[in-house]
Amino acid sequence: MRLEGKVALITGAAAGVEGELMGFGGASARLFTQEGAKVVLTDIKVEEGEKTAAQIRETGGDAVFVRLNVTQEQDWVNAIQTAVSTYGKLDILVNNAGTGARFNVEDTTEELWDSQMDVHAKGTFLGTKLAIPEMRQQGGGSIVNISSIYGIIGSPTSTAYHAAKGAIRLFTKSAAIQYARENIRVNSVHPGYAHTPLTDRGYEDPERLQWSIDRTPIGRVGNAYDIAYGILYLASDESSFVTGSELVIDGGMTAQ
Ligand SMILES: NC(=O)c1ccc[n+]([C@@H]2O[C@H](COP(=O)([O-])OP(=O)(O)OC[C@H]3O[C@@H](n4cnc5c(N)ncnc54)[C@H](O)[C@@H]3O)[C@@H](O)[C@H]2O)c1
Repeated sequence: MRLEGKVALITGAAAGVEGELMGFGGASARLFTQEGAKVVLTDIKVEEGEKTAAQIRETGGDAVFVRLNVTQEQDWVNAIQTAVSTYGKLDILVNNAGTGARFNVEDTTEELWDSQMDVHAKGTFLGTKLAIPEMRQQGGGSIVNISSIYGIIGSPTSTAYHAAKGAIRLFTKSAAIQYARENIRVNSVHPGYAHTPLTDRGYEDPERLQWSIDRTPIGRVGNAYDIAYGILYLASDESSFVTGSELVIDGGMTAQ
């Protein structure tokens, strides 16, 4: 019970249905409830999110689903209010929601740039800003921001995604040093290539899947639980001396 007594809010957590391909948020919600946390799952995919939360409850976990578009401040206010009114407090926030955009600089439209910065950078900022007052009331908390190896290194495509994930990386360090004395820890996770609903369509192309495998020294792409276990560590008190850090989970990709 590594999260006993904790209350967590996870964004982009819809994809956690048993027997289907899971995302990092959905797998984290499952793992967190198994470890004793009460979890508010959030996403813009309402039907899938409700299904994941219902399945968690059927197996004895404590979870509710709330619709939250991370780019909308009022949605954040409502979701955090739900966490506090349902479970009494907020200890953990996982800023995980995201979408991809594989375009080079010249093919990236202004609209695409803005939407990538909105969902990743602004979404993470808004969640952090609104969670901190609740965490302060509890004497501390843990915020886990899901960046990417693409927030550390470049690639031939994904221009705006790189910029937005890089923004999350530095925003994390900025927030970490501001709130360290209040025992609010803020860390980033940098997953490598992983098979989730986000990458599923791309990986239907065997050449694209092989491209990712070839760049990963361990010789496979990751799965949702490979990343969720790292998120669990940073969310739990086991990482109480860890803040402003980057947890890379990439099968060795960025070690090269
Ligand atoms: N899969 C990978 O290879 C990989 C690698 C590095 C980083 N990531 C990042 O991990 C995170 C989780 O992705 P995943 O691969 O588990 O896929 P996923 O599709 O399961 O998760 C993304 C979720 O975010 C939700 N979402 C999108 N826009 C939203 C918005 N505006 N508000 C709220 N929710 C929104 C989607 O509905 C989806 O459920 C993302 O931030 C992604 O960029 C993924």
